[in-house]
Amino acid sequence: MICHFNDGNPNKTMNQCRLLIHSVLYLMIFRIYLVSTQLIKGKTMKAVFFNQYGSPDVLEVGELEDPIFNENEILVEVHATSVNPVDWKIRNGSIKIFTGKKFPKGLGKDIAGKVSAVGENAAGFKIGDEVYGKLGGFKGKAYSEYVVANPKDLALKPANLNFNESASVPLAALTAYQALVNLGALTKDSKVLVNGCSGGVGHFGVQIAKALGAEVSGVCSTKNIAIAKQLGADKIIDYTKEDVTKSETKYDIFFDAVANQSYSKIKPILNKNGRYVTTLPSVAVILNFITGLFSSKKAKMIAVKSNPQDLQLITEMIENGKVKPIIDKIYPLKEVREAHRYSETERVVGKLVLSIK
Ligand SMILES: NC(=O)c1ccc[n+]([C@@H]2O[C@H](COP(=O)([O-])OP(=O)(O)OC[C@H]3O[C@@H](n4cnc5c(N)ncnc54)[C@H](OP(=O)(O)O)[C@@H]3O)[C@@H](O)[C@H]2O)c1
Repeated sequence: MICHFNDGNPNKTMNQCRLLIHSVLYLMIFRIYLVSTQLIKGKTMKAVFFNQYGSPDVLEVGELEDPIFNENEILVEVHATSVNPVDWKIRNGSIKIFTGKKFPKGLGKDIAGKVSAVGENAAGFKIGDEVYGKLGGFKGKAYSEYVVANPKDLALKPANLNFNESASVPLAALTAYQALVNLGALTKDSKVLVNGCSGGVGHFGVQIAKALGAEVSGVCSTKNIAIAKQLGADKIIDYTKEDVTKSETKYDIFFDAVANQSYSKIKPILNKNGRYVTTLPSVAVILNFITGLFSSKKAKMIAVKSNPQDLQLITEMIENGKVKPIIDKIYPLKEVREAHRYSETERVVGKLVLSIK
């Protein structure tokens, strides 16, 4: 701080300077006191957070300060989000090696809502646009009234879906699309099998593969056969009656959406150049970096990424009526614990949505 008091007396000038510095310091300390005692509050929003890893009971719905966005980011008013298995894996601490020990933590990757503010350098969207997308990284905080998003994670939401339906799409549909197309090298001539075709990822997998012209078999339990038919599967395998690993049919892509098969068992039912793509890491997939060098067949694992082009293609498939999300249940935000309990049963058909607005 520079002080200028020009009456010619250096001692007096020093005292005035000290007085000014002290006053500023007192004001700053007083403001910190007011904020910490909540006498002055920033604008707050409703959000889900947790202060320790554990069961769904650690989830709390409370007030947090509105997020702050920078010039490259967009502030979105979230109307709905969805529950993905990764949310409860973060919550229960099973991937704390990535999520760390800093609390409170937020949750949620998928958003559908309205653009509320746009950073100076954030191109592509304007206030009021109805958008959807998957937040990047492990730091999702979509279970809240407002989120900060990178414009690259967003697209205009499909015109024929409402916010709840839109929120159910991004993470699961991007996973299915990237697994089948980027890793599976799907073409219209591919023979595809989707294991777990009634789940969040699997139900998009069947529809996307069909939309791209492939022949698709779906694996599900007896109670979900009607759903698999509705999704358009050409052939349905009831896993309670038939062991898919003994299949006489061979596939170009075995998409293990529920990741409960081993590559060693699936390899014999892959065609030459066939690909096994799974959603969870396994030793066989890691070793395939080496063993795959000596075989035309490959094992791969999808790690879903936000990608505006992929999301745009998915939007088009939805708007053309080729892909439609199935929603098992919609919960209000305050019932987030129940939503997590249901997701953890791993029996969800399609998607679970948390409605916020
Ligand atoms: N790596 C990535 O980037 C990525 C991205 C997304 C998801 N994932 C992971 O992928 C997995 C699936 O996610 P999701 O959202 O699809 O889960 P989900 O919606 O919870 O899956 C539930 C579905 O799985 C089916 N299922 C359960 N056991 C089965 C079995 N033995 N055979 C066939 N189907 C079975 C259930 O049908 P029935 O009741 O008929 O058995 C149910 O419809 C999760 O582990 C998730 O964490 C990974």
